[in-house]
Amino acid sequence: MKLLLIFLTSIGIFLFSFTPNVNELSPERSFAVMQSDTLKKDKETGLVTDENLYLVKAQCTNCHNSKLILNNRFTRDGWKQKIRWMQQNHNLWDLGETEKPVLDYLEKHYGPTIASTRRAPLKNVKWYKLEQ
Ligand code: HEC
Repeated sequence: MKLLLIFLTSIGIFLFSFTPNVNELSPERSFAVMQSDTLKKDKETGLVTDENLYLVKAQCTNCHNSKLILNNRFTRDGWKQKIRWMQQNHNLWDLGETEKPVLDYLEKHYGPTIASTRRAPLKNVKWYKLEQ
């Protein structure tokens, strides 16, 4: 009886160690995670550090904090539209020469990513009736 128990337990442990890990990330996702892990973040704002960060901090964190940037993903054009929208409605000033590097920064680090966009809808799906 004791032996049988030990036997069954070891089979259990054996099988358990082969169960695939459900939480394993798909390649694209783990790439996105890896990438975001290697990029340095600014301590104060949480924004990615690069040579244009100081401009973005100067132009974009006066009225609201950086979370509004961090929570969004837009294309370059999308970011430009947001800037125009703030200029029209919220007294955002003309960014002048800094607009280009600010957009470069936003496009590079806060553009739509694989992890933040949905896949394209499936095309040519062939539906079939389930037989009962
Ligand atoms: C003059 C003040 C001001 C400055 C400077 C400013 N914003 Fe804003 N921004 C606002 C206001 C006001 C809102 C609306 C906040 C709300 O809805 O609570 C806003 C909202 C946003 C949003 C959210 C938009 C949405 O659709 O919800 C984003 C993203 C954003 N700002 C990005 C930026 C970026 C990038 C910059 C730098 C180029 C910037 N902001 C600079 C005033 C400003």
